[in-house]
Amino acid sequence: MKLINHLEKARKEGWALGQFNFSTVEQMKGIVRAAAHCDVPVILGTSTGESKFLGLKEAVALRDVMREIYPYIYLNLDHGKDLNYIRKAIDVGYDMIHFDGSELPLEENIEKTKKVIDMAKGKIVFEGEIGKVGGSSNFHEGRPESKEDLTSVETLVKFISETQVDLCAFSIGNVHGVYSEMPNLDFKRLEEIREAVSLGLVMHGGSGISEEDIRKSIENGVVKVNVNTELRKVWREEIERSFANNKNEATPYILLSSVSEVIFRKTKEKINIFYENNTG
Ligand code: 13P
Repeated sequence: MKLINHLEKARKEGWALGQFNFSTVEQMKGIVRAAAHCDVPVILGTSTGESKFLGLKEAVALRDVMREIYPYIYLNLDHGKDLNYIRKAIDVGYDMIHFDGSELPLEENIEKTKKVIDMAKGKIVFEGEIGKVGGSSNFHEGRPESKEDLTSVETLVKFISETQVDLCAFSIGNVHGVYSEMPNLDFKRLEEIREAVSLGLVMHGGSGISEEDIRKSIENGVVKVNVNTELRKVWREEIERSFANNKNEATPYILLSSVSEVIFRKTKEKINIFYENNTG
C-alpha cells in the first residue's frame, strides 16, 4: 500500500501514523522492528541535519534493505527548507517531503510550497506548514516562550486551497523538544481548524505531550505525529549506561548492542497510543 493510502485510512478510522526521527542505523533498526512487531506502517523522519549526518542516499538504501524485513516503512525529509536539497532528496527516492516555510511571509510560503510540490506532484506525499512550531528536539528548562505564531484558521484555509498540499502541520502551542514545563495546547483552535479543512493534519513536537492530549489531537484530525526527542533521550541514556558499565570496552557492537532495543520499546509505546483505532 502507498503512503498516501495509509494516511487516508488513518483519517477515516481516526488514528495517526508515527513519524520517528533517526540518524543512526541502530535507531532505525529499533523503529523498523517496532513497526514489524506491531504490523503498522511508520514514517522514518530525517531532518536536514540528520540526513546530512547519515547521507540522503544512505538513508534511502537503508529503507530499501529494511523493507525486506517490513514493507510499510516510508522516508520523509523533515523540515526541508532548501529547494536544491529537497530536489536531491526526491531524486534519490524519499517517499515524502515536509516543506517548512513557516518562517516566511504567507505568499512566499505558498509560492515555495507550490514549487516543491511541482517537483514530484502526485508521485510522493507533500506536507506544508502554517504557524510556527518553536523549540528544538532537545531537553529544555522552563517553559517555551512565544505564543504569537499559532496557526490562524483563515491563513491555513488559504494556504491549503492554493498549494493543494497532502498534509499540513500546524501550531496550537506544540513545540519541538521536552520542556520541564510543557505548554498547554489550544484545542479550541484545533477544533476550528478541523472544521475548516478536510485534509490530514500533522502534529510536530510529539515528545512530552500527554497520552490524553495525543488522543484528543487524533480525534481532531491529526493523522501523523512526529517524535524525536523522546527517542534521542533513551538513545543517550542507554549509551551512557553502557559506556559506564563497560569502562575497558572499545568494541562498538558490544557497547551499542542494546541501543536498538530501547528505541524499539519507546517506539512501540508510542505506536500503542497513535494506532489505537487502526482496524489493521
Ligand atoms: P519532538 O522532538 O518534540 O518529538 O518533535 C519532533 C518533530 O516534530 C520532528 O519534526
